[in-house]
Amino acid sequence: MKIITTIKAMRRAVDVWRQQGRSVGFVPTMGYFHDGHISLMKASVKDNDRTVVSLFVNPTQFGPQEDLLQYPRDIARDKLAARSAGVDVLFVPVTDEMYPQMKTLTWVEVEGIGDILCGASRPGHFRGVATVVSKLLNIVQPDVMYLGQKDAQQAALLKKMVSDLNFPVCVKVCPTLREEGGLAMSSRNSYLSASEKTRASVIFRALCHAAEMIADGEREVPKINSSIKKLICDGAGASIDYVACIRLDGFQIARRIEGDTLIAVAVRIGSTRLIDNIVVKV
Ligand code: PAJ
Repeated sequence: MKIITTIKAMRRAVDVWRQQGRSVGFVPTMGYFHDGHISLMKASVKDNDRTVVSLFVNPTQFGPQEDLLQYPRDIARDKLAARSAGVDVLFVPVTDEMYPQMKTLTWVEVEGIGDILCGASRPGHFRGVATVVSKLLNIVQPDVMYLGQKDAQQAALLKKMVSDLNFPVCVKVCPTLREEGGLAMSSRNSYLSASEKTRASVIFRALCHAAEMIADGEREVPKINSSIKKLICDGAGASIDYVACIRLDGFQIARRIEGDTLIAVAVRIGSTRLIDNIVVKV
């Protein structure tokens, strides 16, 4: 596996592959790999001749009060994990390489999908995500980009961006990997103490309970949302940022369950903000 740190060298590597007629898969990440990241890498390695993984903790998607500086990093461990997943290139640019002129940037703003849920609680977050992923797509020029369902809103937003801006890439969304107790794997789980981790497994239990309510015929969104809130907040140390049922066609908040639905939550366990979701076919 090659480690590449400059845009020029990254482009050169892809040019060579293209001349050889190789297909290229791409997994954008912020590092501190867990099995969720690794599953995306393996999917890409399986489907494509070459796989590029980017590791860049993107400052433009963090708010001023957020955890950019504390965000977990372990590049040595990440290199080993990516290598054993079969990745060909780990692209690790420094901030100056990606943003040489941080003060005045060209932004990519995806209207609609980015305004609700995490977009409402983290202003500017999705503008930062869409901007950095546009840059990465222009640098790596992959055939396929792999994203996780864990960040369902991010995946929906990036799919829309790729379609609206005609990026010549196919987007694949892969299932959420979970810990044994059901907690969705996340780099931010490293902030949790052992007891907070146990506490956090209530999030997935609450989502599964809501999915069962819908399967049993419940269609009233307020009832579904309040049952999730009750389960999660029953006990100390958890508070809700949002709970929402989202219509999968168009990614907007549902008032009633009328078709395939995403139930999405953001929860604070202690000071750690976690997100999760489940899809319910109706
Ligand atoms: P990061 O949080 O590192 O996630 C990288 C990719 O891994 C995303 O597509 C995310 O959805 C996926 N992922 C995270 N947890 C997962 C899990 N438990 N199971 C399966 N996939 C999972 O998301 C970002 O980085 C950034 O916003 C990025 C897109 C790289 C832009 O900076």
